[in-house]
Amino acid sequence: MKDNSKIFDTVATDYDNWFDRNENIFRSEVSALKIAISPHKNGIEIGTGTGRFAKALKITIGIEPSENMAKLAQNRGINVVKAYAENLPFHNSSFDFVLFVTTVCFLNNIEKSFSEAKRILKPNGAIIIGFIDKNSSLCKEYKKSKSKIFEKAKFYSAEELTQLLIKSGFSDFTYLNTLNDTYKNEEIREPKVGKGLGKRNFIIIKAIKN
Ligand SMILES: C[S@@+](CC[C@H](N)C(=O)[O-])C[C@H]1O[C@@H](n2cnc3c(N)ncnc32)[C@H](O)[C@@H]1O
Repeated sequence: MKDNSKIFDTVATDYDNWFDRNENIFRSEVSALKIAISPHKNGIEIGTGTGRFAKALKITIGIEPSENMAKLAQNRGINVVKAYAENLPFHNSSFDFVLFVTTVCFLNNIEKSFSEAKRILKPNGAIIIGFIDKNSSLCKEYKKSKSKIFEKAKFYSAEELTQLLIKSGFSDFTYLNTLNDTYKNEEIREPKVGKGLGKRNFIIIKAIKN
């Protein structure tokens, strides 16, 4: 089976340090995610990585298959369960929201992962996905950079993710976005509500379990 988490074992510290050098980009993304999460209480992050987003968003539990990423998240106080999005070790209807941040592009099987996310959500629970749109300038930069991590990624557009979520039984879509083409680390960007499909670098899709 393809397992994209292995590559993260070799880059965990570098991956985590990137956010120290680009703190305002991190803050811009967190502030947009906070809006999406705000009405929901008890959530989990899938592919929590080093736990930076979980901590900033007050999410106490995450799943993460990479040992070295998980260690850093545990050091941040996140309760990390070693598991894959495609097979979540939780009972049906356990959470109010399920969050994915820059993780859907690394999943082994996105349909199975969305079906698992739906299973562990309570009725009217929310799936919230923060991702780099495949049509964005940042995605094109990543592809050109030949980064060890991003050459493993399968990027999606907001339209493609929307279709996959509809197929998995989600509805009632909301879109937020931040970081336009000229974004710089020097400034924190205000999140915008609305699709902005492909025009913004970081997009959030939120949808509700039918
Ligand atoms: C780009 S990192 C994002 C980490 C964190 N969410 C963040 O934004 O900082 C992607 C994460 O997804 C994890 N991952 C890869 N394949 C996965 C899978 N099948 N199920 C769950 N997580 C996976 C990787 O190990 C990695 O930690």
